[in-house]
Amino acid sequence: MNQTIIAGIGHYIPKQIVTNNDLLQYMDTSDEWIQERTGIKERHYAHRTEETTATMGVEAAKIAIERAGITTDEVDFIIFATICPDYYFPGCGVLVQRALKMKEIGALDIRNQCSGFVYALSVADQFIKTGMYKNILLIASEKHSFGLDFSTRGRNISVIFGDGAAAVVLQPAKEEGRGILSTHLHSDGENAEMLAMCNPGTHANHWTAEPVADFDDAPIGEMFMSHAMIDKAQNYPTMDGPAVFKKAVVKFPEVINEALTQNNLTTADLKLLIPHQANLRISQFVQQRLKLRDDQVFNNIEKYGNTTAASIPIALSEAWEAGKIQKGDLVCVAAFGSGFTWASALMRW
Ligand code: UT7
Repeated sequence: MNQTIIAGIGHYIPKQIVTNNDLLQYMDTSDEWIQERTGIKERHYAHRTEETTATMGVEAAKIAIERAGITTDEVDFIIFATICPDYYFPGCGVLVQRALKMKEIGALDIRNQCSGFVYALSVADQFIKTGMYKNILLIASEKHSFGLDFSTRGRNISVIFGDGAAAVVLQPAKEEGRGILSTHLHSDGENAEMLAMCNPGTHANHWTAEPVADFDDAPIGEMFMSHAMIDKAQNYPTMDGPAVFKKAVVKFPEVINEALTQNNLTTADLKLLIPHQANLRISQFVQQRLKLRDDQVFNNIEKYGNTTAASIPIALSEAWEAGKIQKGDLVCVAAFGSGFTWASALMRW
């Protein structure tokens, strides 16, 4: 069986910086509240009309492909992780295939929210392990700024999220011992609506005691996205923040320990933990729980906010560029988010 390595990595952050104070023009919030509760100082927003989730992904992909020392023609599979797709369908993978003028290779979109990158990494790992593909382009990108409730009603969510993209090229390792050691994927759908964007959707209020959309009396043409839904701002993500926080601080350490235990390793062996950048307070809690030193945990949420699927690979790319990850280092990535889904991957760089 092959072992999968990250042969090239890159990220793309849109230019526009939006500080916490910039958000005051839309909602009742404060720089102090946001920094104290989340550690976020600023985030970047994509250009409203010139940048999309897919175009940002393409920019990150170009860097990863170049750093892997291959051409776009050599990529034999595309995986795209996002919750902010350019279209409801088709997915972003095919838009990348078109933009980069690639061959008629397969393109798979993954919708696993904050765990999207780790889930995608696990999928790619299986294809490389079996020898099915030799160069997989995995992109994670999010343009959250296009779909948030910027009124005070949505402030617990909208201040957290930011835009950005990152990409990796995965290949079979040429040297023994290097690469992804294991991946661990989990879900618990009991509280699926606790962090969710329910509309537009086909749920017809089936899953919840309280309706999450106004379908009543809507004529057939309006069932998918009714005027009432928009009038009542039901077309935005919603979150029970404290409940998500409580679950996250349990599941992060659990899934990190699971990866270490399976490989007979301990936290002392870890060069770097890259947690999904959900909230700096969650990362600090996890660091404390696992008794990790500051230099063993990489955070950049203060600059970018929470970029969902893109947050881990952006951080991985920045850490690698800063020389914090060297060949042979043990790196753990771990995520928790909507679903709930959570996951980890352990790799020998
Ligand atoms: O990446 C996917 C996974 N997501 C997460 O892991 C997020 C987990 N949750 C969190 O990070 C935190 O719950 C938040 C940062 C979202 C919220 O922090 P919190 O300390 O849990 O605040 P809260 O929701 O309990 O709200 C406390 C107060 C409320 O006011 P009252 O009812 O006490 O008067 C909110 O209305 O803070 C208020 N509030 C805000 N105030 C100023 C909520 N959002 C804001 C805001 N600015 N942006």
